[in-house]
Amino acid sequence: MDHFHYKKNELYAEEVALKDIADVYGTPTFVYSKATLKRHAKAYINSFKKMNGLVCFSVKALSNISILKILENSGCGFDIVSGGELHRALLAGANPKKIIFSGVGKSKAEMASGIENNILSFNVESEQELKRLGEVAKEMKKTAPVAIRFNPNVDAGVHEFTKTGRKSDKFGVSIESTKDLVKRCLKNDSIKLVGLTCHIGSQIMELKGFEDAAKQALELLIELDKLNISLDFVDMGGGLGVNYVGEETVQPFELIQIYEEIFSDRNERLILEPGRSISANAGIMLTRVEYKKNNFLIADAAMNDLLRPALYQAHHDVWPIIKNEQISNVNLVGPICETGDFLAKNLDIGACEGDLLAVKTVGAYGFVMSSNYNSRPRAAEVIVDKDNFYLIRKREDYADLTFLEEGLDDQV
Ligand SMILES: Cc1ncc(COP(=O)(O)O)c(C=O)c1O
Repeated sequence: MDHFHYKKNELYAEEVALKDIADVYGTPTFVYSKATLKRHAKAYINSFKKMNGLVCFSVKALSNISILKILENSGCGFDIVSGGELHRALLAGANPKKIIFSGVGKSKAEMASGIENNILSFNVESEQELKRLGEVAKEMKKTAPVAIRFNPNVDAGVHEFTKTGRKSDKFGVSIESTKDLVKRCLKNDSIKLVGLTCHIGSQIMELKGFEDAAKQALELLIELDKLNISLDFVDMGGGLGVNYVGEETVQPFELIQIYEEIFSDRNERLILEPGRSISANAGIMLTRVEYKKNNFLIADAAMNDLLRPALYQAHHDVWPIIKNEQISNVNLVGPICETGDFLAKNLDIGACEGDLLAVKTVGAYGFVMSSNYNSRPRAAEVIVDKDNFYLIRKREDYADLTFLEEGLDDQV
């Protein structure tokens, strides 16, 4: 459930008319609802009934530091995949002991920075990475905490690009290699084995894949018992799908219930890394129609602002800010010089030149994937809190586009 709704014929975020935000900050602008973010974080946190749980919001989904502060205050830790995301999480005041570092390609500098900041765990995805992490920790005369990411060979998720748990994917290691890496951890004084982890994909609409992966995790834990190895946590990743076009979704409590049943005899903590299911429905993108040309609405937002439609052929609902009865079938496109630059196809809405629209469900993998393609400054970001709204990222201007290039061209 989100907090975007019509009052009479006008669209509001919580108690704020979206038109007021466009008047103050212009368009395109990403607008997030604080109440929705908190509600979704709590939907996870309050669902742990039997296991000691930790919810690490996946920063890649939405990384604005004001948003991270809200989630931190709601009790979340963070799942990060880069030194940049570590920087953001720490700036937001995150407790390092609630930070998990995932990702297949961690650099030495990223490892050193995670060790220096005493993060909870590096989720290690290969033998090569484990070796490197041990070397970096040894050089620093420290111990690196490690969870091994196993690949359960589960095919789950909607889009080919967001499936991560199959044997053929680049993520994690096989069950056999997991056992081997566990042994390597035990032999390495610079490594402390603290957990087992996996993440099978994103936008997953059924429980089955999660269940299969958890059963495999349980088998692995039982094998580790036999070797007298006890772990702090089992981390089942993220991946729960959200409602983009009226789909039925699995609720966090249903997922956690299944995990608690499967792990009912275990003492490890249960960590989850949700991203999309916490932030997607908490955000909309405000855009204004520049032109209406045949059945095209040409907006002031484009694929550089919201890449998902062009990248994944993803569908986002689009709602007019002021309802208009003159419905027609249109495609909402941007001004970028690519036929793939569209925001939504086949919409039945009433809108004409100058009208404001809200592209829905863009709070995850929305702003974070934006770019300056076609030398377009990135959009502003605004948060709504009841009847207040405030800027959490300024709109870029032309100087922002070029300042890293200026003053360097003496040789040209
Ligand atoms: C390791 C890991 N954890 C968590 C997530 C978050 O997934 P989602 O946003 O689908 O919950 C991802 C996303 O790709 C991921 O790669």
